[in-house]
Amino acid sequence: MLIMCSWRFSLLLILLIALCCAAFTQVECLNFSFPRFQDEDEQKLILHGSEVVKGAIQVTPDVSGDSITNQSGRAFYRKPFKLWREGKGNRRIIASFNSTFVLRITAKSALGGEGLAFILADHTPLPENSHGKWLGIVNARTDGSSLSKVVAVEFDTRKSYEEDIDDNHVGLDVNSIYSKKQVPLYGVKLSAGDDITVKIQYDGKNISVFFPLTDETVKNLVFSMPLDLSDLLLQNTFVGFSASTGNDTQLNCIRSWEFNGSDIGEYPNGPNLLWVWITVPVVVILLGGVSFYFYWTRKDGKENLEDAYPEIEEQIQGHSMGPKKFRLKELRRATGKFDSKNRLGTGGFGTVYKGFLGNKEVAVKRVSKNSSQGKQEFIAEVTTIGSLRHKNLVKLIGWCYESHELLIVYEYMPNGSLDKFIIGDDNFGMKITEPALIWEIRHNIIYGVAQALDYLHNGCEKRVLHRDIKASNIMLDSEFNARVGDFGLARIIQQSEKSHHTTKEIAGTLGYMAPESFLIGRATVETDVYAFGVLVLVVVCGRSPGNQNKQNNYCNSIVLWVWDLHNKDKILDAADSRLKEFDEEEMVHVLTLGLACCHPNPQERPSMRTVLKVLTGEADPPMVSTEIPAFMWPPMASFSDYTEIGLPEGQLTPFTELTGR
Ligand SMILES: *[C@@H]1O[C@H](CO)[C@@H](O)[C@H](O)[C@H]1NC(C)=O
Ligand SMILES: *[C@@H]1O[C@H](CO)[C@@H](O)[C@H](O)[C@H]1NC(C)=O
Ligand SMILES: *[C@@H]1O[C@H](CO)[C@@H](O)[C@H](O)[C@H]1NC(C)=O
Ligand SMILES: *[C@@H]1O[C@H](CO)[C@@H](O)[C@H](O)[C@H]1NC(C)=O
Ligand SMILES: *[C@@H]1O[C@H](CO)[C@@H](O)[C@H](O)[C@H]1NC(C)=O
Ligand SMILES: *[C@@H]1O[C@H](CO)[C@@H](O)[C@H](O)[C@H]1NC(C)=O
Repeated sequence: MLIMCSWRFSLLLILLIALCCAAFTQVECLNFSFPRFQDEDEQKLILHGSEVVKGAIQVTPDVSGDSITNQSGRAFYRKPFKLWREGKGNRRIIASFNSTFVLRITAKSALGGEGLAFILADHTPLPENSHGKWLGIVNARTDGSSLSKVVAVEFDTRKSYEEDIDDNHVGLDVNSIYSKKQVPLYGVKLSAGDDITVKIQYDGKNISVFFPLTDETVKNLVFSMPLDLSDLLLQNTFVGFSASTGNDTQLNCIRSWEFNGSDIGEYPNGPNLLWVWITVPVVVILLGGVSFYFYWTRKDGKENLEDAYPEIEEQIQGHSMGPKKFRLKELRRATGKFDSKNRLGTGGFGTVYKGFLGNKEVAVKRVSKNSSQGKQEFIAEVTTIGSLRHKNLVKLIGWCYESHELLIVYEYMPNGSLDKFIIGDDNFGMKITEPALIWEIRHNIIYGVAQALDYLHNGCEKRVLHRDIKASNIMLDSEFNARVGDFGLARIIQQSEKSHHTTKEIAGTLGYMAPESFLIGRATVETDVYAFGVLVLVVVCGRSPGNQNKQNNYCNSIVLWVWDLHNKDKILDAADSRLKEFDEEEMVHVLTLGLACCHPNPQERPSMRTVLKVLTGEADPPMVSTEIPAFMWPPMASFSDYTEIGLPEGQLTPFTELTGR
């Protein structure tokens, strides 16, 4: 037995060392080459509106498909390219790359339209309505916003607006279709159906376009200009192509493509030495762990191999019908073994990673083992949103529990959470790094959250209280539509409880909690409405909800501040100063609505139904008194619901129990 064990150990040891070596010597860089495209190459690409047909990427549909008018498409290499990283002393280390490709554009109508582009982008989905002059790069809504995070070298075959110089030029586009630079071409007709070889070179400082490349010795520089891509794009960036057609059409093909990117490494200081220092102890510790594991499992029999949370599965499976159960293996692979490079965010609950399941981008939440409520929240989340479907809710794709890991898989939200656009990251004292959202987008976000809450409160089979509405729990999809997420605190109200519309346990985030929550110690439909009201003010005023962690929970709060401006008849002054253009009447309506939702007395707050009517303009906002009304408790007799429960002793100083999430 002992001999057998040591045999196993030696084998394992060798295996482990080999694995470690393989992992540590692997170079992170992107070199690939497609001399032509074959059907199986689709696996290596992310295709949106485009496909591999006839030995080429048809970036917009080929004639053999359906309509070819008013189309746009994108095609990316599946693996992102590490474009830059932080080096020593805040210096950024920027990669260089060469991308050489053969394009063929064939006009299908007299004028041809619209063009093709080589693009570097943070997220791969195709913007909606990006046909016509938008070239699949941006759309009317995202044009000019640095949130678009896209840089393109365009091959424009059509003069589609005033500033376009002609219908045969190369341009450099940064987050916008209105080029930073345009160079007309002479002697080459882009849309003539010829194979044209283009080389795009970036040396970390300048971007240069060589064109056409007839052979290795003749390199015709079209333009070269300085460009700091690390300022414009995230560290991991996708490379690929986009194209579009309009009323007039053409075929936009990429016939071959080679990309060579430099390797900028991972670690600021001498990586090789560091690896040795890491590898040796890691191997030793792993071996220790493995021997202990074997020793332990032999001694204790099979019990330890069994799942630590058998009851979770029962609870989830008894509940939901939608989400899929994943194997840990699959999710580990999808996220590159929970690689820190793929980390999207971290909070009290754990860490969220980006991953790929097949060719689908997903976000994987790994519930922290230290989170005391981890298990409970995991069940709450999977059982609540797992069974809900609404366009303004983050969609839950699946879940996994295995080897003590609790994981939730959601659809990926390219623009992350709302708070970083509005109030930066308070925890780390970070300033807002994202540009201001325009009013239409903010209004649309507020409307989206309202629709989601109305659905939760009134629209789905069982009433759901979210209990933790706040900016960091609102995610933004590629079009900046709001998606309510983080249902870790949510509770489903069973039919029997429905008459009370309440759920026990005090929960939420300070600053977003209604005054009565501290007294009744539980969530209600009205406390969700209050949190929504605070969110409205936060989004419109562009400031944090203020601190409430004094005994006087209104002190310094955004609610008090806006109400004060309302009292002075200067409510418009509350609007975020970064908002340049907006409809003043609409702004006043939304601010007033926000205040109405933050009425100190729960029975005075509008329902989400009413909120929706105000937002669509069907109804005026409720009247809001100029003085902030006094908080009355217990509330009116009609609200016997509250008094009947009574106040347990000791609940009058509830602040000690609260922790912000
Ligand atoms: C670029 O990458 C391709 C594919 O890996 C490789 O064949 C080629 O030699 C590389 N070119 C250079 C200049 O490194
Ligand atoms: C294409 O889109 C434009 C607006 O972008 C529209 O005016 C036109 O009718 C559309 N053409 C076709 C054939 O659908
Ligand atoms: C790109 O091409 C240039 C010129 O051929 C070469 O000097 C440079 O090293 C190449 N860069 C990369 C990352 O392959
Ligand atoms: C980068 O661009 C600047 C300005 O156009 C030019 O002066 C410089 O020579 C370029 N450098 C390279 C390496 O092309
Ligand atoms: C496309 O054609 C329609 C009518 O056929 C016209 O109304 C529209 O303005 C055209 N769009 C563009 C972008 O040329
Ligand atoms: C990728 O290409 C770059 C530039 O040509 C080169 O420096 C690097 O060594 C290549 N890496 C691999 C793994 O081929």
